Amino acid sequence: MWHLGEVPLFAVVTATIVTIVHMQDFCQKADFECQSQDLSASAQQPLSQSVNSRWNASVLNLIQNLDHFRVSNEKLMGAFPIDEMQGNSVRTVKNCIFSESIPTPLKGPLRLVAVSKDVIEGLLDLDMATTQSETFLQYVSGGRRLPESQPLTHRYGGHQFGYWAGQLGDGRAHLLGQYTNRKGDTWELQLKGSGKTPYSRSGDGRAVVRSSLREFLGSEAMHFLGVPTSRAACLVVSEEPVLRDQFYDGNVKTERGAVVLRLAKSWFRIGSLEILSQSKELDLLRWFVDFRKLLNFVIEEHFPSIQTNDPDKYLAFYSRVVNDTAHLIAQWMSVGFAHGVCNTDNFSLLSITIDYGPFGFMESYNPSFVPNTSDDEGRYSVGEQASVGLFNLEKLLDALRPILTAGQQRAAETVLKGYVDIYETRIHHLFKAKLGLLGDDVEDDYIIAFLLKMMEDTQADFTMVFRELSEFSAFQLHNHNFTQAWALEDLSSHGLFPDWLSVYLQRLHRQVHDNDVRQARMKGVNPRYVLRNWMAQSAIKKAERNDFSEVELLHRILSSPFAIQSSAEAAGYAARPPKWAQTLKISCSSGSMAVELLPLINRT
Ligand SMILES: *[C@@H]1O[C@H](CO)[C@@H](O)[C@H](O)[C@H]1NC(C)=O
Ligand SMILES: *[C@@H]1O[C@H](CO)[C@@H](O)[C@H](O)[C@H]1NC(C)=O
Ligand SMILES: *[C@@H]1O[C@H](CO)[C@@H](O)[C@H](O)[C@H]1NC(C)=O
Ligand SMILES: *[C@@H]1O[C@H](CO)[C@@H](O)[C@H](O)[C@H]1NC(C)=O
Ligand SMILES: *[C@@H]1O[C@H](CO)[C@@H](O)[C@H](O)[C@H]1NC(C)=O
Repeated sequence: MWHLGEVPLFAVVTATIVTIVHMQDFCQKADFECQSQDLSASAQQPLSQSVNSRWNASVLNLIQNLDHFRVSNEKLMGAFPIDEMQGNSVRTVKNCIFSESIPTPLKGPLRLVAVSKDVIEGLLDLDMATTQSETFLQYVSGGRRLPESQPLTHRYGGHQFGYWAGQLGDGRAHLLGQYTNRKGDTWELQLKGSGKTPYSRSGDGRAVVRSSLREFLGSEAMHFLGVPTSRAACLVVSEEPVLRDQFYDGNVKTERGAVVLRLAKSWFRIGSLEILSQSKELDLLRWFVDFRKLLNFVIEEHFPSIQTNDPDKYLAFYSRVVNDTAHLIAQWMSVGFAHGVCNTDNFSLLSITIDYGPFGFMESYNPSFVPNTSDDEGRYSVGEQASVGLFNLEKLLDALRPILTAGQQRAAETVLKGYVDIYETRIHHLFKAKLGLLGDDVEDDYIIAFLLKMMEDTQADFTMVFRELSEFSAFQLHNHNFTQAWALEDLSSHGLFPDWLSVYLQRLHRQVHDNDVRQARMKGVNPRYVLRNWMAQSAIKKAERNDFSEVELLHRILSSPFAIQSSAEAAGYAARPPKWAQTLKISCSSGSMAVELLPLINRT
């Protein structure tokens, strides 16, 4: 019987009953067919092909004239109390969910530097040609209002780094309105970097080019990895100077302003409810009414399976958020994604990834990877994310308590206790899928944990180890010839690697007639390309000199992260990171790097 010898394993998933994981788990939210089978897709136009194949019938009827494109905040304004004050003076806002606020036009000359065709055509029904017009540029940079649009900013609060921070709110974002597309899906369009709002605190409401590019590329990349996320439609860069102290060292630099148009089904956060419940001592009746309004709205609009007359509907809602958050964080872990600022105001009530700031994809496997270089305590390290998710869900429960009966509160506590199991079961499924394992075997947890431990010891690359295991046949693996596989080469320097490999190969061998299928299955869940920090940095550097070619290249490649693309290979995106990447430091005002992975939760 094989055993782990001296390897000190860190806490590992407990064995649970497992069903086979299908690729769709990773691709469920993608609007196009997940690239799973053949990975030699052309580098030229992988995206448009896949989109067309699904939406052929409608491609011809895209909106050609922007005058026909309508978004509206009417529903939100009808449902919720609106701030009685107007204007963007920074203030403590009371008794409302939204404030009316007009974007401050970005000063020119303006340049549209990135557009997501998938979002423009697939979610907004717009012909790509409309994005080339001056009108479009004005709409998406805050210079002109979409017909009938009354922009809003949202009042919310949140727990930041463990402590209640009071009123936060959209400090540099404007909600333009909701758009219901022809598939019947409603999306909320938001400009980010569009100027001061009543919630801007000390900020100027602007965003700079580097952080906007990271949000644009990062959120689109996550979508195509199959992780639930907000989307980005386009990015406008201006010559308007914005002052930033990038590394918080007193070194203020002039940078250029930029605006992203981003979309989510809803931008409500845990902090949206918290700010209401936190004010309950101040205004007993008022908060209660608003709180229920918000909660009922979210349930009716976004959780249609919950009956509105169900006396336990708030409990049902809470169970869903607990479940979906556990699933979301497990998906982050499966691609080595560290969000970087997991405050309760950056956590969506729909459990999608929002607020891309100092996020990062882990390179060499390291559970204490922290993308925010100023986060010295590592509170939001990649390996802590599951625990932080639990903390945030506790805060959500605290906010809900006053409207739950004693019995419902106890039931909700039990639901929360189940979070760890949901998360671990999901992690177990996802990592089994990454290793191509079918069915259930008592050794599976060891195979996963042992591999991660060796990766940690050898600093082998997280993304590429899994990818290279997918690209090698069992026969090739058996031969131990890894000259063509840099990550496996690093990993194989581990003294126990031959032992692990032999156990893994035996496990695969028990899956009869599975070899080719295994490889295809694994290639469909293990990306070859993720947005590594050095890649983003290299694109940003060029962008700062007005060369957006690498942004475009990255955007295109990350739209098919599972398919081998010759332009990506030529750019070295699947190769060993360049030497300079190792010393890279990113500030927190845009996002930075450091990482940590898997498991799991501190079960104290
Ligand atoms: C969509 O169009 C493409 C190219 O025009 C074609 O190859 C494909 O079969 C079409 N798909 C459907 C579902 O009609
Ligand atoms: C939990 O969440 C996942 C992913 O969002 C979903 O597929 C699953 O059906 C959910 N389970 C329950 C019991 O809601
Ligand atoms: C996350 O929330 C904090 C407040 O907790 C806010 O200052 C920050 O802008 C948010 N992060 C992003 C990337 O939006
Ligand atoms: C990074 O971490 C520091 C220290 O905890 C925190 O003050 C800062 O707000 C974080 N940066 C961001 C963008 O959240
Ligand atoms: C290893 O594989 C490479 C090509 O993949 C080949 O050129 C080399 O000869 C192989 N080495 C051994 C020792 O088999």
